[in-house]
Amino acid sequence: MTDWYKDAIVYQIYTRSFFDANGDGIGDFAGVMAKLDYLKDLGVDVLWLSPFCLSANDDNGYDISDYYRVMPEYGTMAELAVLIAESHCRGMKIMMDLVMNHTSDEHPWFLAAKSGKAHPMRDYYIWAPKKGGQAPNNWESFFEGSAWTEDEATGECFLHLFSKRQPDLNWSNPKVRRELHRIATWWVERGIDAFRLDAIHLIGKPAGLPDAPEPTVNWPFHNFCNTPETHEYLQEFNQEVFGKYSVMTVGETGGTTPESARLYVETDRKELDMIFHFGHVHETGRPKDAGFFRKYYQEWYEALSPKGWDAVFFSNHDLPRHVSHLGDDKSFRAESAKLFATMLLTLWGTPYIYQGEEIGMTNVRFSSLDDYRDLAGKKIYRAALAKGYDSKQAWEEFCRLSRDNARTPMQWTAGKNAGFTQGTPWIGVNPNHVTINVEEQAKDPDSVFNYYKKLIALRKTYSALARGSFRLYGEEHPQIFAYIREDEHDAFLVLLNISGQPGVMQTGEAGRWSFLLGNYVAPAHDLPAALQLNPWEARIYRRKK
Ligand code: NOJ
Repeated sequence: MTDWYKDAIVYQIYTRSFFDANGDGIGDFAGVMAKLDYLKDLGVDVLWLSPFCLSANDDNGYDISDYYRVMPEYGTMAELAVLIAESHCRGMKIMMDLVMNHTSDEHPWFLAAKSGKAHPMRDYYIWAPKKGGQAPNNWESFFEGSAWTEDEATGECFLHLFSKRQPDLNWSNPKVRRELHRIATWWVERGIDAFRLDAIHLIGKPAGLPDAPEPTVNWPFHNFCNTPETHEYLQEFNQEVFGKYSVMTVGETGGTTPESARLYVETDRKELDMIFHFGHVHETGRPKDAGFFRKYYQEWYEALSPKGWDAVFFSNHDLPRHVSHLGDDKSFRAESAKLFATMLLTLWGTPYIYQGEEIGMTNVRFSSLDDYRDLAGKKIYRAALAKGYDSKQAWEEFCRLSRDNARTPMQWTAGKNAGFTQGTPWIGVNPNHVTINVEEQAKDPDSVFNYYKKLIALRKTYSALARGSFRLYGEEHPQIFAYIREDEHDAFLVLLNISGQPGVMQTGEAGRWSFLLGNYVAPAHDLPAALQLNPWEARIYRRKK
């Protein structure tokens, strides 16, 4: 089946923080190997490995210096080959995180390009002279300040939409595109089944590199994102690689709206299988309550179905832990973790689990700035000061939003370093591993971990939960997000109380639905005409035949 990805459940592995098999404090391929049975037991189908190519590691692998070699701290090419083969033996596929918008400044292409204006590889990257002593245009980098840095030797600036150690490739150069097709094909030939395409909405720079209209507002929506050029390059990529080898693709596309996303995922356009959109996880000033989720998922479903497909996630390596950010990690940690698990695994679209969410891992709080590792942190802190916060408030904001919240080591045990390493971990372990860890939760039938397993098994048993239609249920409710997933065989009703208060709901449908799964003690078997949900309660009912 070419659309197998619709039934798949993806698990993201941030290798550096997953499991360290050789004691150097950094997670590695052998560490992932050691946990393959754990992943199989959880029930996931596709393992998304964060970037593993040779890297200068200014941005933990998102700055590649050689696409044909792997990071030595992760292991060897032979070990990766074994990991791919062993995953395949267990029926799991491998998704490679491919970073093609930019390379490292240590990539030989960039070193060659920098060596002189006349070098044949100069236009592998994007160069422009200064304008009146200023940067060539007003684009800002996502990490810090101007997106342009001057190269003193040649007097021109190069473009970098991320750090200055991540120069953007020039996709308008067909030679660059051919190199990238070759790289992706080479990895498919080594057993890669799927690609997560990093920052892919940025590859097609608009001709003439015009100024952005409002440099500070809604930056991700600006004129260099999601351009017609980007779609042109993706169609070509699909023809040359994705379509040819039937690999699954998911694009990271910040700033997409339900409408603009259609251009990426409608099947007849032959670009990508699905994209990540971020309106539900980014700070928008709007509370993420039942009304928000109701409107959000309805809009996305209406826009993408039936010609496209969605990707559903609440956490990744760039975001705070969702139980802290969207749920309640103090009074209702397990309940809210299970509620979001219920939503994740019953919405329309392929679910993406980020390592650790299956045990309800939370944000961390280190005591000093020196304990944080992420290069993007500075921007969060400065943006908070720019909002008028004092230094104490800016520090709070930084702790809440830092990407390192998601990057602390996976909590395997209550023991030393959470069982992640025998050495010194590259980043501190969250002290709450003494109570939140895999070992404890695997033994507890009511744990977040065992709840994820049940949900995954349900989604695999009933195709309506994966491929069925999505329809809002009942009137808009201030606390309860309710919807139906249905196909020709079955219908499921999902009730989610997205709040720390009990919520009362009228269904007017006594006796038509039977209880299947929930995150509190099982209620009466039949759905009553009126019911009260506990704080953060989630329930799934199945329609009686
Ligand atoms: C998005 C990745 O998810 C993030 O971690 C990275 O810093 C940027 N792209 C740049 O590659």
